[in-house]
Amino acid sequence: MRRILLVFGTRPEAIKMCPLVKELKQRDTMNIKVCVTGQHREMLDAVLQVFQVVPDYDLAIMKQGQSLFDTTETILSRMKNILDNAKPDLVLVHGDTTTAFVAALACFYLQIPVGHVEAGLRTYDLTAPFPEEFNRQAIGLISRYHFAPTERARQNLLNEGKDPSSIYVTGNTVIDALKTTVRKDYAHPELEWAKGSRLILITAHRRENLGEPMRQMFRAIRMVLDEHPDVKAIYPIHLNPIVRKTAYEILGGEDRLHIIEPLDVLDFHNFMARSYLILTDSGGIQEEAPSLGIPVLVMRNTTERPEGVAAGTLKLTGTSEASIYSCFTQLLEDETEYMKMKHTANPYGDGTACRQIADVIEMV
Ligand code: UD1
Ligand code: UDP
Repeated sequence: MRRILLVFGTRPEAIKMCPLVKELKQRDTMNIKVCVTGQHREMLDAVLQVFQVVPDYDLAIMKQGQSLFDTTETILSRMKNILDNAKPDLVLVHGDTTTAFVAALACFYLQIPVGHVEAGLRTYDLTAPFPEEFNRQAIGLISRYHFAPTERARQNLLNEGKDPSSIYVTGNTVIDALKTTVRKDYAHPELEWAKGSRLILITAHRRENLGEPMRQMFRAIRMVLDEHPDVKAIYPIHLNPIVRKTAYEILGGEDRLHIIEPLDVLDFHNFMARSYLILTDSGGIQEEAPSLGIPVLVMRNTTERPEGVAAGTLKLTGTSEASIYSCFTQLLEDETEYMKMKHTANPYGDGTACRQIADVIEMV
């Protein structure tokens, strides 16, 4: 029986790979194993628990304030032992994290075929997202199979000269996840607190935004909140200590903004579905929001996910205080503009991506 090893390590990869693990495990034609690097610890474990996925291998690499050197070298050396031991015929990695890049690199050194889930997204700007744009392109160089979420992603891969027969357009597995999490009867004390106000959901964590860009984001948000008493904001904050220090410094003490611990994915998706507006620099949220019909201000200068912008649900604000202040204010005050953004669109498929990917893997 062919041995397939899935490797992931951070929250977003887990959210998008766990549904695939479950789909693959339902089939009795392949031997499926899961390796987590533990690049994230608590945020990864929370997702594994929601989806009830128990890893076969855990590299447990996370340390507080880890650098790219820390994650890269620890994953690379520990991955070799796992690959030697598991002897997979195919390794599946996801997206653009250090976990995905380094796992693919380890496979390349050992000449093990790689399948790349969420392949072909590009900004073609190696500074943003950093280092993810490089990671995703490098994984593309190494991969034998490219699972592209959209036609646009496929086109990027074709333009780079990839063999057309190695590319499969499947939709994004995040839509599969979303189908299982959003519930009509959902309730949460924080949502009770926000009842009667327009709820703004905030997340921010990008490495290239740490420092001054993040301070500018938070200052703009604080100013807009002060000027709009009918608005309340919830910010489930990333565990990165640098993000937390900046956020508490600038947003702490604001009565209508609650900074809370990261939410489980089930909670977060339900918070999203009940938000008036989302402000984020996250990648995954840009994919989830269009199918929920929630407008998003993307606090970045560029995006590798232009589908949501084209669909009208997302708007790039840049990272300066002035531009975020102006876009945020406009969306709160201009009902017509808001309604133009608030509609559901589904650029990322119909929630059958896992089934489609598993079909391909069974066949190749
Ligand atoms: C990583 C990925 C990024 C992805 C993001 C999702 C890279 C280079 N970056 O960035 O692509 O968008 O995850 O969130 O792969 N921490 C904890 N507990 C956790 C998770 C993080 O304490 O469960 C803290 C640790 O101090 C850790 C720090 O956050 O050192 C940063 O984590 P790291 O994975 O290095 O970077 P992210 O910014 O999370
Ligand atoms: N998310 C979550 N809890 C939170 C914030 C986000 O479960 O408190 C989910 C969100 O729905 C999305 C993913 O985490 O699926 C995005 O992860 P993140 O922003 O950490 O990474 P990125 O997508 O930017 O790589």
